[in-house]
Amino acid sequence: MSMNLVVLLYLVASVCFIQALKGLSHPTTARRGNVFGMSGMAIALLTTVALILKLQDAAGTQSNGAGIALVILGLLVGGTLGTIMARRVEMTKMPELVAFMHSMIGLAAVFIAIACVAEPWAFDIVAHGERIPVGNRVELFIGTFVGAITFSGSVIAFGKLSGKYKFRLFQGAPVTFAGQHALNLILAIAMVLFGCWFAATQGWFPYWMMTAIAFVLGVLIIIPIGGADMPVVVSMLNSYSGWAAAGIGFSLNNPMLIIAGSLVGSSGAILSYIMCKAMNRSFFNVILGGFGADPAAAGSGEAKEQRPVRSGSADDAAFMLANADSVIIVPGYGLAVARAQHPLKELTDKLIEKGVQVRYAIHPVAGRMPGHMNVLLAEAEVPYDQVFEMEDINPDFGETDVVLVLGANDVVNPAAKDPSSPIAGMPILDAYKAGQVIVNKRSMASGYAGLDNELFYMPKTMMVFGDAKKVVEDMVKSLEG
Ligand code: TAP
Repeated sequence: MSMNLVVLLYLVASVCFIQALKGLSHPTTARRGNVFGMSGMAIALLTTVALILKLQDAAGTQSNGAGIALVILGLLVGGTLGTIMARRVEMTKMPELVAFMHSMIGLAAVFIAIACVAEPWAFDIVAHGERIPVGNRVELFIGTFVGAITFSGSVIAFGKLSGKYKFRLFQGAPVTFAGQHALNLILAIAMVLFGCWFAATQGWFPYWMMTAIAFVLGVLIIIPIGGADMPVVVSMLNSYSGWAAAGIGFSLNNPMLIIAGSLVGSSGAILSYIMCKAMNRSFFNVILGGFGADPAAAGSGEAKEQRPVRSGSADDAAFMLANADSVIIVPGYGLAVARAQHPLKELTDKLIEKGVQVRYAIHPVAGRMPGHMNVLLAEAEVPYDQVFEMEDINPDFGETDVVLVLGANDVVNPAAKDPSSPIAGMPILDAYKAGQVIVNKRSMASGYAGLDNELFYMPKTMMVFGDAKKVVEDMVKSLEG
């Protein structure tokens, strides 16, 4: 295979990756985006295997097929494990799977960098026995430390998200101690100094020191952040893993790694920004671990007030819905917990049969991961034309007869309009403007932000307490009866 063909195939794979990102930006095109992504990755992998064979051939080492056999074995083992894990994972556990995957990307970047430092000629960086040019050493230094931070940070994020390990650093509650930020700063400076020493001398001692400090820093940066903020952190680590890959791509002169790494790096950074904006939090506020330190903010907080609310049964709610002309359904985290999307689709179909206009309103950070609600609704085969983004549907709440809030809390909390509220400025779905509001949740407990919700106490609101799946199933039965 000629080098021109390699570059051409890498270009095709890169175009596939760009198409994948474009496709994944909307539920209707997400499947196509995934097909593009998988095709691009298959082309990139096969081309890289062909490139390895070519390099071995040029170096006269093709007689020993052990190298390529190991690469193929790695592809098979990794591909099989990835397939099994992706098939088994529950939707609510997706962020922790993604965190695990990022940790592997970070570790891969570190291993490649170590191999490059040990035998740069094997990667065609220099002729046999020559020293690595200073520019490449700097790239290896950057790729290594970003990869190491990504690895250890993602492992901590994985532990915090899974919430089932006893190890203190894997607990959702932030781990803080006096002088934490100063220690991080000192370690970061030491890491850069060792990196400069490595760039100047190509010595193993500064390289190992720099790598070890980066592993420790990854842990220290993530432990003060509360478990509830982990989705933003995972998206940030996603970005880091991309930059680590791009850094290594420069060292290896591999345009594929540079392009794919930059795409992952920039899309992860943009996603982190969008999530922070939708939560009205600054990126530094998340990274410095200001939120989630309050146990109530972890999403299990008790309501702070004991005011009376108007409550009703699933039958009452079904009656109100069936007699409305227009209904907007606001799904939230509770819908995912209860896995109520299938009965919800049934409820919607029944209402549409009765001539009610039903639409879904999706808040960008409803649930616990980007696109969480879209994925759940798509799983239940809710038609895309019934699903509306916040900006598109917000002007319609005022003219809507009934809003059904299912397991959502913060995303409909009018406190966001109050400048003194901790969530002041967070964009919300204007459910409070509708004619009547039905809210389903299990208790008066607060949501992720740990705040009371004025919507629940409004005279036009009826609370229907219970697990979302059971309540929606009861509503369906009531409509059938
Ligand atoms: P939340 O504000 O967390 O509220 C979810 C509500 O669901 C809770 O009040 C809970 O009340 C209820 N619930 C839980 N299990 C239930 C069940 N089985 N049946 C019925 N209700 C149930 O959710 P939201 O409105 O979707 O807002 C998301 C929050 O997460 C926002 O504050 C957002 O900033 C944050 N966040 C989002 C993301 C992304 S990317 N989506 C990332 C990080 C943080 P009960 O316990 O009383 O039932």
